[in-house]
Amino acid sequence: MKMGKNWLTSLVLTVGVGLLVSACGSGGNQAASGGGTSEKVYVVGTDAAYPPFQMLEADGKITGHDIDVMNAVAEAAGFKIEWKNTGWDPLFDGLDRGTVDIGISSITITEKRKEKYDFSEPYFVANQLILVAEDSPVNTLADLKGKKIGVQGATTGGEVVKKAFGDTYEGLKEYDDMPSAVDDFFNGRVDAVVGDNGVIQYYVKKIENKKFKLIKDDSFEVENYGIMVKKGNSEIMGKINEGLKKIKENGKLEEIRKQYFGDE
Ligand code: ARG
Repeated sequence: MKMGKNWLTSLVLTVGVGLLVSACGSGGNQAASGGGTSEKVYVVGTDAAYPPFQMLEADGKITGHDIDVMNAVAEAAGFKIEWKNTGWDPLFDGLDRGTVDIGISSITITEKRKEKYDFSEPYFVANQLILVAEDSPVNTLADLKGKKIGVQGATTGGEVVKKAFGDTYEGLKEYDDMPSAVDDFFNGRVDAVVGDNGVIQYYVKKIENKKFKLIKDDSFEVENYGIMVKKGNSEIMGKINEGLKKIKENGKLEEIRKQYFGDE
């Protein structure tokens, strides 16, 4: 009985695989006649330490809002991608050197970055927030003068602090990643953290007995996140914008946003 069943299974498998192989064969031929069989896989770099936009799971998998967005964009526009957790500064270097094709990492579209990179249409709207202790006398950005402020280096959070207190402001502590800045705040090594609202709100939501406050200074501008490529890489940028347009129109982008941020 048992042997018979196995025999039947393998027959079904053999026939099935045979059909599959011939199906792929003809598909392959079609692709070949269409010109080109090897499809390019674009390397997407990210700094997977920016929850809930980019996160590194215990099993090494990169997840988060931006990951879902980029996967949906690639699917909608029909191109293949592979993920690389580069970190923040190395993401820009990777694009410069060509080891990374695409960057998505809650990157704000800025005039300065546009000198070296091209950005997609925006996919997310953000702003800076100041995180301070609940009993802190600080109520505006200007009130932070003289205080120790933690930011992730080379971010728009650092920019607003430098704009307010100068490029060489002594109290500014620039970290390689956002979790280190937040850790130092909760350990009392800095008085404040300035960073993107989505991330700061994510961290403070995790705190049990809330002993902090969040401040949005009037000077903080609207920031738009964009997907970034090396300047002039218009072929891939065309595809990215095509996919982004599709997922904006069919509601997928909003669905992803809601999944991570609800009705915020
Ligand atoms: N939006 C800010 C900027 O573009 C911070 C982004 C930081 N992203 C990250 N994955 N660490 O400067």
